Order: sequence, then C-alpha cells, then structure tokens
Amino acid sequence: MTIDTLHQEKVLILDFGSQYTQNIARKVRECQVYCEIHPCTWTLEQVKAFQPKSIILSGGPSSILESGAPQVDAGLFELGVPVLGLCYGMQLITHLLGGKVAPAEHREYGRAKLLLKENSRLFNAVPNDSVVWMSHGDGISEIPTGFKAIANTDNSPIAAIEHSDKNIFGLQFHPEVVHTVEGKTILENFLYEISTCEQNWKMDSLAEYSIQQIQQQVGKGKVLCGLSGGVDSSVAAVLLNKAIGQNLTCIFVDNGLLRFGERDKVEQTFRDNFQINLDVVDAADRFLDRLKDVTDPEQKRKIIGNVFIEVFEEEAKRLGDDFTFLAQGTLYPDVIESVSFKGPSAVIKSHHNVGGLPEKMKLKLVEPLRELFKDEVRVLGRELGMPDEIILRQPFPGPGLGIRILGAITWDRLEILRAADKIILEEIKQAGLYNDIWQSFAVLLPVKTVGVMGDSRTYENVCAIRAVNSVDGMTADWVHLPYELLGTMSNRIINEVKGINRVVYDISSKPPGTIEWE
Ligand code: XMP
Repeated sequence: MTIDTLHQEKVLILDFGSQYTQNIARKVRECQVYCEIHPCTWTLEQVKAFQPKSIILSGGPSSILESGAPQVDAGLFELGVPVLGLCYGMQLITHLLGGKVAPAEHREYGRAKLLLKENSRLFNAVPNDSVVWMSHGDGISEIPTGFKAIANTDNSPIAAIEHSDKNIFGLQFHPEVVHTVEGKTILENFLYEISTCEQNWKMDSLAEYSIQQIQQQVGKGKVLCGLSGGVDSSVAAVLLNKAIGQNLTCIFVDNGLLRFGERDKVEQTFRDNFQINLDVVDAADRFLDRLKDVTDPEQKRKIIGNVFIEVFEEEAKRLGDDFTFLAQGTLYPDVIESVSFKGPSAVIKSHHNVGGLPEKMKLKLVEPLRELFKDEVRVLGRELGMPDEIILRQPFPGPGLGIRILGAITWDRLEILRAADKIILEEIKQAGLYNDIWQSFAVLLPVKTVGVMGDSRTYENVCAIRAVNSVDGMTADWVHLPYELLGTMSNRIINEVKGINRVVYDISSKPPGTIEWE
C-alpha cells in the first residue's frame, strides 16, 4: 500500500443529528477505513463528487412522520454504492423506497435481544440472541419492495432489513454504541464484506502521510506554532518538526498561570529531546499586571486571551523571520459541520481555539490534525515517539490556574495553588489513577477558615480538590476517590503547603456544575 491510498476509499457518513454520529465515525476508523461526517443536507451532486465507497445514514432526533423531517435525494440509492441506515437512517430508507414507518407500539430505549431471522452477510459471525442498543420511538410497519426483514427484537418485529441486490441495509439499533455487543462485527461485515473496503487507515502510514501533506502545503515557507504543552499542540509541533525541521518555530508563552514545573518540562521535552526551535516568552508579570484585582471569571478569560494574542504577535515580530503560516492543533470534532434538528438548520461549530490570531497576523493556517479524533492523535503521537507523559495528559484550560484561583490573582496565591496542585497530581499518579481520570486538580477558594496547628490558632485558605470523569468535557461525573487517598492528599496539603489549613472535596457533577469553578 502506498501513502496515496490512505484516502482513496472513503466512507461517507451523512449526519441527521444523532448524538452517536461521531461514534459511527470513530468505529469505522477503528476498522481502519477512512470516513468523513457531512450534513444530511448535502445534495446528490455533493455525494457523487465525494465518491464514497459506501454510505452510512446516521440516526437522528426527528421522526420521519413529521413534516419537515430531514430527507435525502432518493437518487442516493441508485448510485450502486452500499448504504447502511441506522435507526432514523433505516426509517428514511423505508420511507423513501415505498415502505411504511409508524409510531412503535412500544418505544424502545436501552438494551434488547437481537434475534436473527434470515441469513445475511451483515450478520456473518454474529450469534443469535446478541444484545443490541435501541433508542427509537418509530418503527417499520411495512418493508419496501425488494427488501426482506433479517432480524427482530421483542418489541421490534422488523429490527433489520436488507435489499441484497442493491446492498442497502437498515438497522433499528445502534451498532456504533458500545452496548451493542456485536456492533464492531456488524460494521466490519458492512465495510469489508459488503462494501469491499480495504484496511488502509493505519496510524503508521498516517504519520508518513501527514508529514508529506505538511511539506506539500508549506513548501519552504516558515511556520509559527503556539505550543501549550497540551496533547494536540504537542503532537502538531512534533509532526511539523519532522516535516520541516528548522523552518518551524514554536512559541511557548509563560503566562505565570502554569502548573508547577510546567515550563521546565516543556523546554526539556521539546527543545532538548525533540530539538525543536523553541522560543519561551516570559510574560508572567505582564499577565499578572493586567489581571490585578480582577475577580470576574469572564473578565479574567478575556484578559488572558487578549494578552496572549498581544504577546504572541509581538514575539513573532521580534523573531523577525517572515512567517507565512500559523500551525494549530485543531481536531476533527472542531471542524465537523454539526446539524441541529428540529428544523433542518445547519450550524457550523465555532473554532474555539482559533482565537483570531491568523487573521490578525495575516498568516495562513496549517492544521495537521484536522482530520483526526483525539484517540487517533494519541496513537499518532506514539508513532512519532512521544512519551506517554505528554500523550496521556489530562486536559488543562487555556486560562490555566487563573480560573482556579477564585477572586483576585496574586503571585502568592498562585504559588499556594501550584504547591497544592502538585501534591494532588503526585498522589493521583502514585495511586495509579491518573490515566483513568479525565481531570484532577486543586482550586483555591477566596475564604479563610480557622484551624489549629500545634498549639497555635491558624486563619488560612481553603483548597478544594476536584476530580471528574468525562468523555468529552461536555458532561462529567465526580470521581469516587478512595477515602484513604483523599485523606493522604488532605494531610499532605495541610502539612506541606503554607497558607492552606482546610481541604474539601467537590462532589458536584456537570451539569449542573461545570468542571472548572470559574
Ligand atoms: P467546564 O468548566 O466548562 O470545562 O465544564 C470543560 C472543559 O473545558 C476546559 N476549559 C477551558 N479550556 N479555555 C480552554 O482552553 C477555557 O477558557 C476553558 N474553560 C474550561 C476545562 O478544563 C474542561 O476540560
């Protein structure tokens, strides 16, 4: 296989607004087949121009029985390309090809048992009686001509359909959800057997492919990259370094709001280990000056964002090289056009991390990760020889400790928080929990409480411990950390950190709380 074949076989996922659409894409890619998500409002011409090897129609919140429900051009089924409709996608196939959809007698949410009725290539190696994940209110009451029902569940007499000549399939359940035990086998059958896709999407070839892509885009141009030390910008920087070496300059802004030892670690990793042109700007005083006496969280965020842009711009000028490109670690979920229904209105997600820099500096963007999901970025990082310490890092917000010190930010309070945060991370790592937790950190509260240490009375700060689990940061649960571990952290913080005499544990989930306190 050559690098060029990486994108030759593309599966098109048309999105009808399901919460699981990104899961479909990730599962397809896990099968080593490249795919892209596009809105269901795509025209037939756009679909043809994409040249899909096969098409998956996602689920969605709409009911095909309501007027204005999203549809596709029925010409899609005449392209000679295999089609798989999932949930709403299956109902749409039925509706467009002459069958009937009706409100299901029993709405079905959660686990169900799938009973196979007919031999189907879609169910090769799938045992009878396997558990699947259902989430639907409508069902198929009449199968379109040329189709046959190939499976049922207790509550869905028609849980799967097939048109064997045209290779069109529909599933009432969600094979992309982890609770569907044979979901991967079913998708593999659809991709390998029915769509004859080859397994081209491999991370080792991806590194090589991405490097070539960057070289093609950038040529001899000079690239600036804002390095934060987080997973995305770090992998982007290492990839760019492999592609263009000395024509890359990374800027790391020390805003004074970093965790303990962070700047040293970044310098060591990127300058010493990867020999990247790394420019570290010491801007702590400037940030703290501008943040003086500011207590409003949104105000803090704005100031930190604005000062970052100022510093970055000035530094680029000072470096004097005529840069033509700005590199960013944008990921695929940031660029997927998301559809929101009811009412087929397509909204485009704003790029939360673009921050206005490229326009302001008149730079072109290089986004070497924009086709990748986070888990793929991690695999790519490993391929590039990056250590787990970077690849498996917990997320850290752009405004840093600035939004973890409630109230006004001072250097003294930053030092107190850094010391407490360091202890929490050490203990979480020591307990072997770091990689199982989405984020774990300290928050410094703007209240003082009375304590007693030795024979004397103390009147010091309260520190909160926050540890949450999450899949994407949108929702989160607090982690049930062992009491012993909480006890050790509390003891160490109170004994070792001057300025804290009380530790509390945050047991709020998101929603209604947020992960950060500000
Ligand atoms: P919240 O607090 O909104 O956080 O539940 C969700 C996720 O986003 C991170 N976060 C930020 N990241 N700039 C960032 O780059 C920000 O202003 C910001 N605020 C929150 C947070 O750490 C969590 O992972």
